[in-house]
Amino acid sequence: MNLEQFAPYAASRVTDFMHGYIDSLDDAAPKLKESMKYALLLGGKRARPLLVYATGKLLGQTEDVLDYAAAAVECVHSYSLIHDDMPEMDNDKLRRGHPTVHVKFGQAGALLAGDALQALAFQFLSDQNSGLSDSSVARLTNILAVNAGYSGMCGGQALDLEAEKKHLGLNELKVLHSKKTGALIRAAVLMGAYACEQVSTEICSNLDEYAKWTGLAFQVWDDVLDVIGDTAVMGKTAGADIALEKSTYPALLGIDKAQAFAKECAQKAKNALKTIDGDTSVLSSFADFTVSRDH
Ligand code: IPE
Ligand code: IPE
Ligand code: MG
Ligand code: MG
Ligand code: MG
Repeated sequence: MNLEQFAPYAASRVTDFMHGYIDSLDDAAPKLKESMKYALLLGGKRARPLLVYATGKLLGQTEDVLDYAAAAVECVHSYSLIHDDMPEMDNDKLRRGHPTVHVKFGQAGALLAGDALQALAFQFLSDQNSGLSDSSVARLTNILAVNAGYSGMCGGQALDLEAEKKHLGLNELKVLHSKKTGALIRAAVLMGAYACEQVSTEICSNLDEYAKWTGLAFQVWDDVLDVIGDTAVMGKTAGADIALEKSTYPALLGIDKAQAFAKECAQKAKNALKTIDGDTSVLSSFADFTVSRDH
């Protein structure tokens, strides 16, 4: 399968899996369950699950096992979007083509939906039915916790808020972007890899290099889309970074150089795949997609 076929396949697979799982939680408070489903199931590219499946399949793991890690990283990502949109952070009203969770369910509802999705991520990873060995469960849990937390996504979000109305240097901005967005992309690739028992240190280090550059490219292009993207196509409001005077690559370098930098990052990501045996074409095409997408 090429990326054009694999992307919708992976997206519908993880969405069906998460849908079935959440529907089976019969002791959840009804409003909370509704808000979790709203945030998690109504749209989104499912880029991180795609990376879990593509990496795991490259190394020989079955999709049935990978479903749990794919769902886990998507839960953390979706929770990060709920909180990112809240008035105390980016104050956005539109996400994935729908009103944001706090607009629909109130601020307490949005906080709780995010909290519950974060916990659900670790419920997925530790589910007895996942088919992961105990040592893989421990490893994947560690990867997700580290990349979601204070030194990963949350750390990056804290840096992002501190950087509003400031002029960061290139290196500082690279660190910010690598944490706020790169960390979960890295987690997706590494979870896909470590879901396989026999993976070598060398392959993991090449995949990690791929993931670091892909994650940076992904956020630089997200900044680019804030400037040149279309609200209806993206399902989120264009121009939001400019309004908040966010530290972004277009603000620092101008739009042309920001686009060029994103493409350089994607090329570095693809270079890191060169020494890996097996069909890395989906991962390679995904790196290109990150810096050519319109949503
Ligand atoms: C948006 O992520 C926020 C970032 C971390 C850049 P995505 O562009 O992956 O958003 P969805 O999941 O497709 O909605
Ligand atoms: C989002 O960065 C990063 C996380 C949600 C962790 P942005 O604030 O740029 O994402 P969008 O543009 O609102 O999707
Ligand atoms: Mg933000
Ligand atoms: Mg935002
Ligand atoms: Mg953005």
